[in-house]
Amino acid sequence: MSVKSHSNGALTARHDFACTLAQKVGLQALRYWNEQGVEGLGTEVKGLQDFVTKADKDAEHTIRTELADMFPEDGFIGEESGGEVASGGYWVVDPIDGTSNYLRGLRHWGVSIAYVEDGEAQVGVIHDTPTDRIYSAMRGFGAKRDGSDISVSRTSDPTMAMGIVGASRRAPFDLYLRQLQALYNDGIEHRKIGAAAIGIVRVAEGVADFYYEKHLNSWDALAALLIAEEAGAKVVTPPMDEFVPNGGEVLCSTPALSARLERILLNET
Ligand code: IPD
Ligand code: CA
Ligand code: CA
Repeated sequence: MSVKSHSNGALTARHDFACTLAQKVGLQALRYWNEQGVEGLGTEVKGLQDFVTKADKDAEHTIRTELADMFPEDGFIGEESGGEVASGGYWVVDPIDGTSNYLRGLRHWGVSIAYVEDGEAQVGVIHDTPTDRIYSAMRGFGAKRDGSDISVSRTSDPTMAMGIVGASRRAPFDLYLRQLQALYNDGIEHRKIGAAAIGIVRVAEGVADFYYEKHLNSWDALAALLIAEEAGAKVVTPPMDEFVPNGGEVLCSTPALSARLERILLNET
């Protein structure tokens, strides 16, 4: 059994604090959208089809400040304000995953907070803001939705399977098309919902059978992947020392379909 740097009590404190914080900033972002409407969100363009709003920045600022006050020894990496891998424990945060959906009022977005220690995510929290639900996990203690256990689907027949496939301009579009074709040829259905963290918790709760994306950043995925893993999913990512700084290919699936999906999807170029 590995010896953790922090006791379960210290991890529970981080888990509980992150749950409260994620819900608070998620609901703040929702209120801001309701008050400002689409035109008033202070949207800036970071790149082609890549946006940031005042709500993303405010949410990250609140998360960063409150975590630093509560756990001053912890490091921090956030999508909007950056940061580096710390030698002790550190947080990896996406203040709003699914910003394009958020700014248009599409109901797939949320707040993602992971805590990493000893080379692994130890705590993962997602606030699915439009439904005001908290998905969370501590490594080794199962996955929860609003405090109740959740688990992955039992789908094993590919012709009954439905997954979520994400794509961004960080990966080649022709590969995405070929992968969708390969899934289709196997009888597998797919959706694209524009929020990786939310897609991955859909796998954790058994609503979808898998989530795949050629490139995700660590802040998109770490929290949700721990929740999915604790709910029984098979998760494939690059090693943490590559994944945290650079991101990479992510597949998370119900175990009965994982070998088939790995064969169809992984390591294609
Ligand atoms: C994006 C969303 C999207 C995924 C992209 C992510 P953002 O995050 O999760 O679904 O396909 O790869 O970058 O920009 O909304 O935080
Ligand atoms: Ca994201
Ligand atoms: Ca984001």
